[in-house]
Amino acid sequence: MKKNMYILGIESSCDETSASIVKNGTEEIATVVASQIDVHKDFGGVVPEIASRHHVKNITIVLEECLKKANMKMKDIDGIAITYGPGLIGSLLVGLEAAKTLAFVNGKPLIPVHHIAGHIYANSLVNELKFPLLALVVSGGHTEIIEMPKHYEFNKIGGTLDDAIGECYDKVARVIGLEYPGGPKVDKLSAEGKHSYKLPIPLQDDSYNFSFSGLKSAVINLAHHEDQIGRKINQADLACSFQEVAVESVVNKMRKAIIEKNAKSVIVAGGVAANKGLRSAMEKLAKELDVELSIPPMKYCTDNAAMIAAAGYYAYLDGRRGDLTLNSKSQDVLK
Ligand code: KG4
Ligand code: ZN
Repeated sequence: MKKNMYILGIESSCDETSASIVKNGTEEIATVVASQIDVHKDFGGVVPEIASRHHVKNITIVLEECLKKANMKMKDIDGIAITYGPGLIGSLLVGLEAAKTLAFVNGKPLIPVHHIAGHIYANSLVNELKFPLLALVVSGGHTEIIEMPKHYEFNKIGGTLDDAIGECYDKVARVIGLEYPGGPKVDKLSAEGKHSYKLPIPLQDDSYNFSFSGLKSAVINLAHHEDQIGRKINQADLACSFQEVAVESVVNKMRKAIIEKNAKSVIVAGGVAANKGLRSAMEKLAKELDVELSIPPMKYCTDNAAMIAAAGYYAYLDGRRGDLTLNSKSQDVLK
């Protein structure tokens, strides 16, 4: 094997078109992200058809810019890692076709990467992963606890029974009257409020599973009730009450998993890993249980191709390859 491997990662599963070059799975050389937040804002969420059209417009520019930023040419690249799923099918297809074309034309290996493996490996851009580890994956589409005995082996031990935590954040934000994307805005507002509204802590059972639909409904019902009796909700207090309950429910399950699995190393991954409340609660928990904790810096929490290139390196070492028959999948289990 070559001493140094440069992987070009491509990510287009939702509303970010991104390309990145990462050396040996750990060192980011250059990343370009074209975000569509402003495009979807007026609709209150991502509109799939509009998202894929923007990916088509952006993908070539993003790829060219990334190579330019890295001062590299395609001949310097050792493999092309692509998010094949899960995500919006039209969006995924744009990145996948670009990746396949580049791999085929330049004779480079094509490496399929599961989006959540990418979120997990965002951590390897900042810290060496130590095994066995427990990964808490919290994003717009996922809320899971994954056990990893070694590189690129994933065993899901628990997950949400209904909504993902990020989805719940975005819905609550809408009820409170905050703009899309709501998660970061609820987080920010929550720092200005107090936990004055009583909300139920979801699924306090003996499993490693989560549930957020009940909490979401409780917030919606509370807002409607206050509205009906002509009382204005205190936005900051509702944001704070919701955040504390949501974070507590996740942290309770992580405490249980760390103790019962005797974990020594824990990582947090996904868009909601950017949440200040969750970050500080996980730091407190790690201290309490004396485990090593890794949370990626903000720029690696939300969707980006650096995490896909990092995961791609380890997927390559694991022997994973794609060919021209590789297809996008809107749903797929991480394995
Ligand atoms: O990982 P990601 O970029 O996309 C998916 O793969 O889903 O995660 C996006 C999700 C959105 O639901 C967004 O509202 C949420 O992450 N999010 C946050 C924060 N930043 C992003 N939720 C709570 N607090 C934040 N600071
Ligand atoms: Zn994501």
